Amino acid sequence: MNHTHATLPRLGLAVLLAAGILSRLAAAEATTPAPNPSTDPFPDFGFMVSPEGYTGPVFQLSQDYPKDLPAKSDVPAFFAKLPAAPFSPDFEAWRDYMMAVRDYCFEGNTSADPAKFATDWQVQNNPVRKWYHIPWQHYGASGREGVHGLTREAPVANMQLSLAQGVPAPGDNYQTYAVGFFNSFGGYTIGKVWADHMNPDLSWTTKPHGFPEGTVICKLLFVDVPASEVPFLVNPVQWTGYIQETFGNTARSLRTVSLIQMDIAVRDDRAPLGWLFGTFQYNGAVSQGPAWKNLMPVGIMWGNDPKNNGLAYTNPNPVATRINPELKETSINADTRQLPPTHLGWNGRLNGPVDNPQSSCLSCHMTAEYPALSPMSPLFQANPPAVGSKTWMRWFENLPCATPFDPGAQSADFSLQLAIGVTNFYEWAPPKESGLFAAAYTQSPNTAAAKKPKLLKAQALPPGTHTFPIVRDLPQKH
Ligand code: HEC
Repeated sequence: MNHTHATLPRLGLAVLLAAGILSRLAAAEATTPAPNPSTDPFPDFGFMVSPEGYTGPVFQLSQDYPKDLPAKSDVPAFFAKLPAAPFSPDFEAWRDYMMAVRDYCFEGNTSADPAKFATDWQVQNNPVRKWYHIPWQHYGASGREGVHGLTREAPVANMQLSLAQGVPAPGDNYQTYAVGFFNSFGGYTIGKVWADHMNPDLSWTTKPHGFPEGTVICKLLFVDVPASEVPFLVNPVQWTGYIQETFGNTARSLRTVSLIQMDIAVRDDRAPLGWLFGTFQYNGAVSQGPAWKNLMPVGIMWGNDPKNNGLAYTNPNPVATRINPELKETSINADTRQLPPTHLGWNGRLNGPVDNPQSSCLSCHMTAEYPALSPMSPLFQANPPAVGSKTWMRWFENLPCATPFDPGAQSADFSLQLAIGVTNFYEWAPPKESGLFAAAYTQSPNTAAAKKPKLLKAQALPPGTHTFPIVRDLPQKH
């Protein structure tokens, strides 16, 4: 089946609806099978240029989730390269492992020829092994765009990437866009959670369940910062996305973004918490041209170092990377030929260049739950606790996989995309008997969302429950 073209009729339907041509819709309905919201495909994306005159690649949600748990023999070969426990913070013990994870993510997804970058990562067509996307990230103001399935993420703070990097307009910010992929082990669990498209079931990601060992997730992050403002974005890998003008200006058009980071997460029973989180930073200065392989390893973490509450290594506008020798559960690549100066996370824990310098990968990800009863970071609330205080350290404990962060919530097992998808679904909140599922998502401009009644949400949560938005970061205060 040609997946690219399968997307267009659905998109076309939504455009017609948005234009209010309801008689045309009635005619279409007479010839198509009756919709079944519990099994109809999930929408691919929420924002796209009109199909007329656009001939480029169209994003398709990879949603043919495996029905059976993949065999043990499908556990990635790089599992054999995991260093022996107890894990060492010396990155040289991890380098082979990290590069093998990178190769596993790249295999069948990446081209060496820049002319082919635009059709790379069509993971449903990967000839080596299929990868899968999270449903319901199309929805809402940050929802997926239709070229590569990118969702809008954090603003890029002034000078976050280099001293020469500014802002697009006074009081505004550049932006990050991202898309994530789950291998077949992860895809199996997504399929379980979403077996009934109208009733997501997070008991599949809450103890005693959870993503199975062998799950690998990778995620590409791009910025719309002009590559000329950031030395390590020389020779950039670039995509086109149907994205906002700026973080603050929601008007969308086809614009260029540059690859800056690739995150990975691996579910391995030998890891103390069950998960390993690692990241790679783009550095075009290491090669003669644009290449996915310019993603250089930054580090890996397997715990939050719960007893370490110092501040000396937090480094928001770095002139040099500062590696904290007191951290025992984070390992950072010290090779300065591979990596430009970077800020890392709170007191030197692992975080990437577009991540918050007061946080860490595991700190944010262990909060993945529905409903989101706590913010992802102690900073993302009114009156945050003092940095390093007892209340603050709740976000730097070592919570095992599949454990809810709050009593009363179900765990999304460290997957914030899964938590966002389920949250979006309950925001959408159709009365169950309501009409066509595929046409019910919001098309650009995204105005219908605000007007929709929130019926299911009120049913799903006790009145007065305070929940937090799962957003990657808060806009910088100027
Ligand atoms: C400030 C909180 C925060 C920090 C810090 C953070 N992330 Fe995330 N991450 C998110 C959110 C929110 C998402 C979901 C949004 C999206 O990807 O569309 C996400 C998504 C991901 C995904 C896709 C799978 C999933 O569902 O969660 C991976 C893999 C990932 N992050 C890895 C990392 C790694 C590795 C680091 C550290 C280098 C990191 N993250 C740091 C908030 C954070």
